[in-house]
Amino acid sequence: MRKVILAGNWKMHKTVKESIDFLNCVEGEVKREPLMILFPPFTSLYEVGKHIGNNAFIRFGAQNMHFEKRGAYTGEICAEMIIETGAKYVLIGHSERRHIFNENDSFINKKVLSALDSGLIPVLCVGETLNERQALKTDEVIRHQLFEGLKNVKDTEFIVAYEPVWAIGTGINATPVQASEVHKLIRDYLDEIFMNGKGERTTILYGGSVKVENIEELSKEAEIDGVLVGGASLDCTSFVEIWRILGAVKGIV
Ligand code: PGA
Repeated sequence: MRKVILAGNWKMHKTVKESIDFLNCVEGEVKREPLMILFPPFTSLYEVGKHIGNNAFIRFGAQNMHFEKRGAYTGEICAEMIIETGAKYVLIGHSERRHIFNENDSFINKKVLSALDSGLIPVLCVGETLNERQALKTDEVIRHQLFEGLKNVKDTEFIVAYEPVWAIGTGINATPVQASEVHKLIRDYLDEIFMNGKGERTTILYGGSVKVENIEELSKEAEIDGVLVGGASLDCTSFVEIWRILGAVKGIV
């Protein structure tokens, strides 16, 4: 079933202490839905897990993982290590992983399969670059990323995040209409891949320069189930405000 979700991707920000300070701040406010999912850096996962415990409204996940179960992969961590911290989610194929660390779709597909096999819920990130959008290739790129990223995936729970590369960290968000159009497209492709109304059942988040100033407009789009926030997730006050507006617009009060 689709869920209203506010996800925060902290990227390479926040020490363990800063992560716990943030949790102490949000916990006082977030006592109902929408579900908040935080993606701290690896070093904070264990302490965040201990702190969050069984909180029903604040969950957390890892920003990345390796697809192998164990092995000589210096600097990497596997699904089992993530699960041990209490995390339930993992971001896969974030544009920074694709573009800075050269992850391709078949590599990303292995991670999605490994995450699902281990019991994590992957958040598969897809999105076109500015050049691709200007060349009218958005459909083609999204289709390819979904078909390759979800190869051999069974009809099980995963989340898709549409994050146009040109909107990430640039201050320029996709307009609600632009985001909505691509979310609709993603649902069509999911139907094509799974052939059983998967599109309608899948939670799709929008990400890219989401902030207090634009969350209301974005939330009004029925196609947008929630958002994945980078920069504006680092400050507790603005993140809680985004959470409050998202919930209000989606009718969760
Ligand atoms: P941003 O990042 O909100 O800072 O644009 C979004 C993301 O990378 O998930």
